[in-house]
Amino acid sequence: DKALKVALLGCGSVGSQVVRLLTEQAGDLAARVGARVELVGVAVRRLEAQREVEVPADLLTTDAAGLVRGDFAGPVDLVIEVIGGIEPARSLILAALESGASVVTANKALLAEDGSTLFEAAEKAGRDLYYEAAVAGAIPILRPLRESLAGDTVTRVLGIVNGTTNFILDQMDTTGAGFADALEEAQELGYAEADPTADVEGFDAAAKAAILASLAFHTRVTAADVHREGISEVTAADVQSAREMGAVVKLLAICDLRDGAVSARVHPAMIPRAHPLASVRGAFNAVFVESEAAGELMFYGPGAGGAPTASAVLGDLVTVARNRLAETRGAGESSYADRAVLPMGET
Ligand code: HSE
Repeated sequence: DKALKVALLGCGSVGSQVVRLLTEQAGDLAARVGARVELVGVAVRRLEAQREVEVPADLLTTDAAGLVRGDFAGPVDLVIEVIGGIEPARSLILAALESGASVVTANKALLAEDGSTLFEAAEKAGRDLYYEAAVAGAIPILRPLRESLAGDTVTRVLGIVNGTTNFILDQMDTTGAGFADALEEAQELGYAEADPTADVEGFDAAAKAAILASLAFHTRVTAADVHREGISEVTAADVQSAREMGAVVKLLAICDLRDGAVSARVHPAMIPRAHPLASVRGAFNAVFVESEAAGELMFYGPGAGGAPTASAVLGDLVTVARNRLAETRGAGESSYADRAVLPMGET
């Protein structure tokens, strides 16, 4: 009876839902993968913290590095990283790949800042590094860009990729509220972070834009290449005048391929109400893709939240587990072309 050992790093809102799905769907997952997927340890900051889902005490450890090294339950086959941030996430992912594990991560900030270090480590180790959950939560968008559309030429990606700011702008549009009141409501509903800077100043969307542009155009775009402007300067009057013009204000991630060069930017933009992106309400996300042969495509769904994000993590887990059993790996990031990336969103 074959089993793949899984280590989970981080047990916040996404991690707890990963534990729940791994437990509740253990039978189905085993059938789909062709082997049992056994959670052998969960690395947390504090053993005693309040969690959305009860995690058996004997699985918890504060020693993430030890868990990855195999000190806790022997060598692990698959590592899921949902800690977020640059360190210690980067060192742990690199250690996991070096030890021969395949990795699933939701870490947009790390991928956008230093993805190439991770991809090179995965390549060297001959292991998978999958990260569907890093952009737009539950929406399957990265694999379509990397795989389904790999025979086409994507020319443009327009995304509403931050749920908090979309909720705020939607509130301002429907109730006439000012930015500060709408932000407060987003915080009360638990959409925005306690420190919402990454959301409202566009850092979160810029990280996602870098990842989208890299995959859409088969090149490497980092967060530093993305021109960024947030929504904190958008006033009730701006939203009202857009409304009078038959438009709506959205925080857009815009990735373009023009004359062989790539650019990416994030800023508030007016969208005609007839455009499909205008109908994306509340904390939902959507990504609108234009390509030469397929034409226009739109991907829509919940872009944040524990369970939706865990859905994307588990999907990746099934893929890397299958690859593991077949002793193969996915396409990886080895197919990058060297395209010019225009500085800071110049077009
Ligand atoms: N803070 C992010 C958002 C969470 O509001 O979309 C998902 O990355």
